[in-house]
Amino acid sequence: MSATAQGVEQRLRSIGQEHLLHFWDELSEAEREGLVRQIEDLPLERMPELIDRYVKRGEGFELPKDLEPAPYYPHDHTGRTGGPAWDRAEYKRAGERLLAEGKVACFVVAGGQGSRLGYEGPKGCYPTGAVSGKSLFQIFAEQILATGRKYGTPVPWYVLVSPLNHAATVGFFREHRYFGLHEQDVMFITQGVMPAVDKATGKILLAEKGEVATAPDGHGGSFDALVKSGAVADMRGRGVEHISYFQVDNPNVHCVDPVFLGLHATAPDSSGEMSSKMIPKASPAEKVGVFCRVGGAAGGKTAVIEYSDLPEELANQRDEHGHLRFIAGSIAIHAISLEFIERVVNDPKFRLPFHRAVKKVAHVDLRTGEKVEPAEPNAVKMEKFVFDAIPMAERSIVLETDRVEEFAPVKNREGPDSIVTSRQLQTERAARWLAQLGVDVPRTSDGEPDCVLEISPLTALFAEDLAQHTDIPKAIARGARVVI
Ligand code: UTP
Repeated sequence: MSATAQGVEQRLRSIGQEHLLHFWDELSEAEREGLVRQIEDLPLERMPELIDRYVKRGEGFELPKDLEPAPYYPHDHTGRTGGPAWDRAEYKRAGERLLAEGKVACFVVAGGQGSRLGYEGPKGCYPTGAVSGKSLFQIFAEQILATGRKYGTPVPWYVLVSPLNHAATVGFFREHRYFGLHEQDVMFITQGVMPAVDKATGKILLAEKGEVATAPDGHGGSFDALVKSGAVADMRGRGVEHISYFQVDNPNVHCVDPVFLGLHATAPDSSGEMSSKMIPKASPAEKVGVFCRVGGAAGGKTAVIEYSDLPEELANQRDEHGHLRFIAGSIAIHAISLEFIERVVNDPKFRLPFHRAVKKVAHVDLRTGEKVEPAEPNAVKMEKFVFDAIPMAERSIVLETDRVEEFAPVKNREGPDSIVTSRQLQTERAARWLAQLGVDVPRTSDGEPDCVLEISPLTALFAEDLAQHTDIPKAIARGARVVI
């Protein structure tokens, strides 16, 4: 055994996980090196405490007692729909200034395993455009390219990947020549992983004789990854102050929204640290986290409570107008300052907690050396969630947006939040944008667009951009498939 391997063995022994080297004698030299490297990258010293909390004691989420709905900036800024009026134009100008000064970077989290979609390959490569079948990555890249052109300054783009999809993701960008972006403006950051732990014994599982069973450490791991990879330092070198954060699975997201960025950076009730967008929940049971206020209406903090943690009674509460009280659904769109990310990562007071999930994890049986495919969930996985950082901000604002305008997620193979529903929503949004211009869009008797539509980000980033184009058709034919 090399000195490094001996060191690893000693560290494993001290935390009762030395079985990870059980098959050492059967491994090739390359497999041994790979295993040692993999183990060295794990947060070994923290494992006993984490296993005790999340595996042995099964520590879950504790609901704060004084939960109130979080206030938000309503989508209608005029005050006509009952909410407070606010100066949309002023905040848009503030956001546009940030963009023109090169103070904004895009950040997509694409390190997830996308297991529900069941697609071979990173989810960002999934053909998603309603007509063109453009990949999610291409849809975002074209938005980022068009934004850079609009404001005269390229927007750097940071892409969070995991060790499991890093090579495939980078390969996809290379193959597509970075979709027209400059290679030096696209950065890939690899997030950390956490080992899967046997639920009954508290032992870390081996996926193969020479490989620990691991999974990405959650989108909350993005904060650590941004700092440790040097991405934050790179951003600072470019003059960036804020990131526009979004998930890889939503083709309708506005990767960069000046109004939101302006609110985040300059609204009096925002500390400019971490802000969020929300959509009104469609029903009490909709599976999205909800923005709440904890610690009292005045001086309290904004927080997201996961749908599974929000008691049914609260989820069903309605106000005097019959609207859900806890209505603000999280769609994982945030604006975050670099200063805030560094504080959360570097100050132990602000450490993001883990969440436990009990899953089926295939592993090697130590006694027989055979691979086991469990029939029942057998292992605990630990993940951090990015929204747990929100209450660490001094003052965090929430902006309401329109569901069709900004939320068309591709999560599942079929049914809700699948490619079928996403393409319908992409078409519906395009139909609305075109209708605003006076274009005749055919609809079925159910009111659905009777066509398939896609508006390229290179044509328009927002509905109002369409007005600059003189070649938009006056009418769409029934059943047509049109890219504009
Ligand atoms: P999801 O919660 O939808 O998870 O991630 P997932 O892994 O993509 O899909 P399933 O649950 O296995 O089907 C929401 C977003 O967070 C990113 C995903 O890539 C997606 O954009 N994510 C998730 C990460 O970047 N890293 C992670 O460790 C987990």
